Amino acid sequence: ASDRPLKGKQCLVTAGPTYEAIDPVRFIGNHSSGKMGYAIAEELLRQGASVTLVSGPTALEIHHPNLEVYKVTSAQDMNDICSRTFPESDIAVLSAAVADYTPKIKSEEKIKKEGDTMMIECVKTPDIAANLGEIKIPSQFIVGFALETENESQNAQSKLERKKFDMIVLNSLKDKGAGFGFDTNKVTFIHKDGSIQENPLKTKTQVAVDIVEQIINKSNG
Ligand code: PMT
Repeated sequence: ASDRPLKGKQCLVTAGPTYEAIDPVRFIGNHSSGKMGYAIAEELLRQGASVTLVSGPTALEIHHPNLEVYKVTSAQDMNDICSRTFPESDIAVLSAAVADYTPKIKSEEKIKKEGDTMMIECVKTPDIAANLGEIKIPSQFIVGFALETENESQNAQSKLERKKFDMIVLNSLKDKGAGFGFDTNKVTFIHKDGSIQENPLKTKTQVAVDIVEQIINKSNG
């Protein structure tokens, strides 16, 4: 219907994990399933937006005429697509669990088992969220995520400020049923104006509805 609130809006969504190659058969990754980010992409589409979904490796598939999907592997790949597509976006929702470090050397051949220990030297990956925060103009609205295990609110607050988010969605691995893999999540919204909203455990589909509702209310549609 023409009255959908996000009609004409372009949204960028990141979802899933990144895989950082060690050699042709091994990687450093994390437990993100992509469920949270895909649910957000679907809800944005339902509210009339056009969506660019940049997804790390997941088992999920979605199709929609107003959806463009980029499947990527590493943090560097995700960063490249995001920095290219963000300038045309009105809204960005950064739910991907991006690796903070990547192996300095990616061996071309499978690394052989030799000594009793092995070391993998890593270097920092690009911080996609911080990079987008740097080039953001006032009409753009960025929603970041914070996945924490301790000092949750404090850490989320400082990520909100450092990465120039308009709003951050905090989830804690201390909460049962929250975070990676589950079909549910328990999130707190922190806005840059200081307002905070705690929510009970809900399905990720419902959490996505709540996040998009916040975006519609706070981003001037
Ligand atoms: O995929 P699911 O199984 O459904 O799980 C959902 C989730 C737990 C992955 C999701 O709800 C979530 O919390 N995503 C963010 C996970 C994370 O990496 O958080 P962080 O606190 O490390 O990062 C803070 C923010 O910076 C995030 O918006 C992240 O996308 C972004 N970031 C981080 C590092 C980096 N190099 N680039 C980034 O853009």
